[in-house]
Amino acid sequence: MTGDRPPGEAATLVVVNIGQLVTGDPRVRAPGVVEDAVLAASGDRITYAGPASGLEVAIGPETIEVDAHGAAVIPGFVDAHTHLVWLGERSEEYALRAAGASYEEIAEKGGGIRSTVAATAAGTLDELITATRERARRMLRLGTTTVEIKSGYGQSLAAELRQLRAARGLGTEPDLPDVVTTYLPLHGLPDSDRAVYLEGVLGEGLAAAAPLAGFVDCFCEIGAWDVAECERLLVAAGAHGLRAKVHAEQRTHSGGSALAARVGAVSADHLDHATDGDLRGLAAAGVTGVLLPGASMVLGGPPPPGRRLLEAGVTVALATDCNPGTCWCESMPLMVSLGVATAGLAPAEALLAAPAGGAAALGLGDRGRLLPGLRCDALVLDTSRWLDVGYHLGANPVAQVIAAGRLVGP
Ligand code: NIG
Ligand code: FE
Repeated sequence: MTGDRPPGEAATLVVVNIGQLVTGDPRVRAPGVVEDAVLAASGDRITYAGPASGLEVAIGPETIEVDAHGAAVIPGFVDAHTHLVWLGERSEEYALRAAGASYEEIAEKGGGIRSTVAATAAGTLDELITATRERARRMLRLGTTTVEIKSGYGQSLAAELRQLRAARGLGTEPDLPDVVTTYLPLHGLPDSDRAVYLEGVLGEGLAAAAPLAGFVDCFCEIGAWDVAECERLLVAAGAHGLRAKVHAEQRTHSGGSALAARVGAVSADHLDHATDGDLRGLAAAGVTGVLLPGASMVLGGPPPPGRRLLEAGVTVALATDCNPGTCWCESMPLMVSLGVATAGLAPAEALLAAPAGGAAALGLGDRGRLLPGLRCDALVLDTSRWLDVGYHLGANPVAQVIAAGRLVGP
């Protein structure tokens, strides 16, 4: 079982009386369920995750004990795709789309990404950080213990860097999710000449962003950036130590997933219009597929290819895409529901795609499952059944959040 640990180590945190512990251990009944279980941590690491009967953890006066009273405990969610740093709002577009306008028509009339770039530029850094912090707090309360945050609403070097700095600042604050940052310089189109802008990104942009980000991303789409432009960015970014991500096949078949496979990207995201050949290419290259079923639902179009990705042998992640245009949503539990209802995933597959799939999409081998040696990011639910995470639509099933071995809320 999953209970190996170095002998003699005192637990700093122990969760007892767990009805169902979702470990993500593939050797145990999916999604790695252990009944009548205990979870223990020493510092930020898990030291024991297994049956209460096998418990070998030393409990001392310093140990914080959490009684789950029979509730289920699952891994903290890793939301691997968000555009969390923005100001302003686009509720009018929401109404326009409901009346039949398309995402592209709205963008052509000056709405879309461009309007968020303007609203974000009009606010102070403090306002930007405050707005982002509120969203990150909502995410933590909904069980997200790690969040990826992209730039992309800057479209000038200085404004993109300001977004990255705002995101990284939040990562150092207590009681918020752990933050991973992504430089997304090719998102909407700039007001200036696109070729000149791209040259600036490849030179000054990458050099300045590299210390502030772990990844680089691009919106590879008709009406945004083409495959050749995106490929230049991703290849140049590799020389700066930034791993590649691609917004691929979201609105049309753009060629973004073949690009992701070619450059060895860590993830290809959206994939609504991906072909089976694309998915085989992602599998062969070891690229994680990130599904954003909230954005797919809001914009309409084909269902997210969850089942097809799994059949092709691709690791699947579910993420919110939280942004003011296509999916204002902080809820990973809702993404689990949509993963089952719209993407063809089984409940156990969807539940693990949210934490373990998200960790794979961020190249984080230290989290996403509840196994000894990994970071202790765990959620005590308000229900005895892990199935309720997806089954109870639109609810928040999270009663207590443990991040890096510490009780942080809600
Ligand atoms: O992931 N596709 C591009 N970017 C976002 C939408 C950004 C926006 O409309 O503000 C997305 O859906
Ligand atoms: Fe996105």
